[in-house]
Amino acid sequence: MKEWTKHDLLDIQELSKEEIELVLKTSKSFKEVSTREVKKVPTLRGKTVVLLFFEPSTRTRISFELAAKRLSADTISISSSGSSASKGESFLDTAKNIEAMNVDLIVMRHSASGAPKIVAEALAPSVINAGDGCRAHPTQALLDLFTIKERLGRIAGLKVGIVGDILHSRVARSNIWALTKLGAKVTLCGPATLMPRDIERLGVDLCYDLNEVIAASDVLMVLRLQKERMQEKFLPSIREYARMFGINRNRLKAAKKDLIILHPGPTNRGVELSADVADGDHSVILEQVNNGVAVRMAILYLLLGTKEK
Ligand code: CP
Repeated sequence: MKEWTKHDLLDIQELSKEEIELVLKTSKSFKEVSTREVKKVPTLRGKTVVLLFFEPSTRTRISFELAAKRLSADTISISSSGSSASKGESFLDTAKNIEAMNVDLIVMRHSASGAPKIVAEALAPSVINAGDGCRAHPTQALLDLFTIKERLGRIAGLKVGIVGDILHSRVARSNIWALTKLGAKVTLCGPATLMPRDIERLGVDLCYDLNEVIAASDVLMVLRLQKERMQEKFLPSIREYARMFGINRNRLKAAKKDLIILHPGPTNRGVELSADVADGDHSVILEQVNNGVAVRMAILYLLLGTKEK
């Protein structure tokens, strides 16, 4: 394929199958760096990466910071509570002020869908969407693909069940685009009230019987109830949700032997999955976190390290 040409990474939809495969291949070569005694390469020396997080994060933020540091870039981390956003400055003004300090790339998370796109269109530095509202979380989908491929050797032809609060999940949306583009068969499962209308148009199946989905799947992607994005009452109770859609050891008796279970985190143990499943043999949750650093190193390298601006 031709060289990487993208200036920003805002959503998985904008990547071709070949570009996704290039990210996965590049991630594989960067994974080794984090196993070295000295976990650093000079690839992005002299570049500046700003982490602009207007929403809480553990995994994505630390992972991007480690990825940038392991590539020898300088990093600055800003959150809304510690910045002038708390004094009423708009996110675009904050971003413009950051641009004025000659940074090369902004990693941005925001509760408003489309906020990273607005910044990318207005500013010269590259922008990576680290999660915007219910819309997209492209690097999560890429690290999920990497983890699935590393464990099962392929994506095409796999049966992937995505279970939980699909309506509010940017992770589900980005994964649906990515998995279907690479040839996986995706089935969504969850309460009808948390299923987006017309989601089948994206080329997925719906099934409201969790046991059926578990038995058929090679991969289960389990999602948290994203209460922070719920504007109304979607469920009778959390206990009822856990009873109907929680993944537990008993339910997994019907699963394939080599089923893998992914979860983007943070997990709510005892709700969407039991503690023994989160820590059990099927779970690859911490592998996802480990792979997240390599995948984000690959993205930073492709956006900043492969061409002169
Ligand atoms: N998966 C994910 O986005 O986790 P954080 O919210 O901790 O970054």
